[in-house]
Amino acid sequence: MLVLKHEMRPSPTADEQARQNFVMGLRSFVLNDLASDMRHAYETRIAPAFARTHQRPPATGSEVHRAIRGDAMFALYSALRVNAQRLVWDSVIPVVARERPRLESIAARASGGDGPALRDDFALPSNVTAVDVHLLPGSYGRSDGRHDLTTGAIYDQGLAVFSFGLMGDNLDDIGSSIARFIAGRYPDFAPRDILDVGCTIGHNTAPWARHYPYATVTAIDVAAPGLIYGDARAKLQGAGNIRFAQMDATKLDYPDASFDMVFSSMFLHELSLKQIDAVMREARRVLRPGGLMLHMELPPNPQMAAYDAFYLDWDAYYNEEPFSKAFRDQEPRKLCAKAGFDPANYVQFVVPSLGFFGAQAVDDAAAMQDETVLDDNTGRLADGVRWFCFGAWQS
Ligand SMILES: C[S@@+](CC[C@H](N)C(=O)[O-])C[C@H]1O[C@@H](n2cnc3c(N)ncnc32)[C@H](O)[C@@H]1O
Repeated sequence: MLVLKHEMRPSPTADEQARQNFVMGLRSFVLNDLASDMRHAYETRIAPAFARTHQRPPATGSEVHRAIRGDAMFALYSALRVNAQRLVWDSVIPVVARERPRLESIAARASGGDGPALRDDFALPSNVTAVDVHLLPGSYGRSDGRHDLTTGAIYDQGLAVFSFGLMGDNLDDIGSSIARFIAGRYPDFAPRDILDVGCTIGHNTAPWARHYPYATVTAIDVAAPGLIYGDARAKLQGAGNIRFAQMDATKLDYPDASFDMVFSSMFLHELSLKQIDAVMREARRVLRPGGLMLHMELPPNPQMAAYDAFYLDWDAYYNEEPFSKAFRDQEPRKLCAKAGFDPANYVQFVVPSLGFFGAQAVDDAAAMQDETVLDDNTGRLADGVRWFCFGAWQS
């Protein structure tokens, strides 16, 4: 299956593609079929055993985790999922290593001497350096020099394998679904300056530039390889006016009131709570009155059933995403209020995936007056995925 269609993509040989297809199939099997068998084991065997001992069902994700982790079904699921995750990277790293000279020369041509704004003295924060985030060898910042884009290319093709087609062509389903939803829900909102923080390779930045073609879109990240690759990737897709810059979202270089929208996707759960507070405060500082801060994220535990909370917390324990549970245990409304946003200006949505449900479903969701309805596919890479997002309007 070829998920990436843009010109910057690494090109696997037939054998490499077959291997990647196998890993996609394995991940789909683990996350759909085996996950459903594990849930069945929980409902028919594990939860009833817990209830016999405690005279009540497990009340939180942590209780479900404690109840299930000695079970053979959970061990099988987890072992296969960890190894499938390692195989994701194993199936793309050799492709990118072989392709590196070609990719670097394409990127140099595409950037035309006007690449991302990088900083020689930039210090990567420890949330990126201390662990191999989601088992990506060397994490996001691994680099052997100023032109090294390989980690960006590995991330791109790795995410394509990881998501087995559920993130859309060129992996932009989150950005495309949410940008369409926001444009439908707020037809009078016309942002002139949009900032995407923690953009990695800008795959979910590009849809904002498409939906708001008159806007200047800026995408920042701390990791240079993704920015070098992402800048060329966006230019080769004709993705519009996107400026990529190396910057820490907890201390932005921009003056107060310089953006109409601050967006992030799948970003906050990789930060400490202290960093999250700083990101929110910075977003509020750089937003103009009437501007929107919007974060797409995994849905919060306080709004989920105990089993679903456990299911999405799995990555915190077994996939080198050490901050994700602490983030998911927060109530997003309170995070926004803590940063100074008026609680009356809080918003949250569940947006149907454009690729899975189609444009009409996104438009219908945008027209609905109700607040969020989370279900057990929200945030999961499963058939029928939906994207959760939350944020606040600046007064
Ligand atoms: C999971 S990726 C985000 C992916 C992307 N936004 C998407 O839509 O899929 C997390 C990104 O956050 C970046 N990051 C981590 N800490 C950061 C910080 N303090 N400031 C800016 N970027 C940061 C990492 O380098 C990484 O590229």
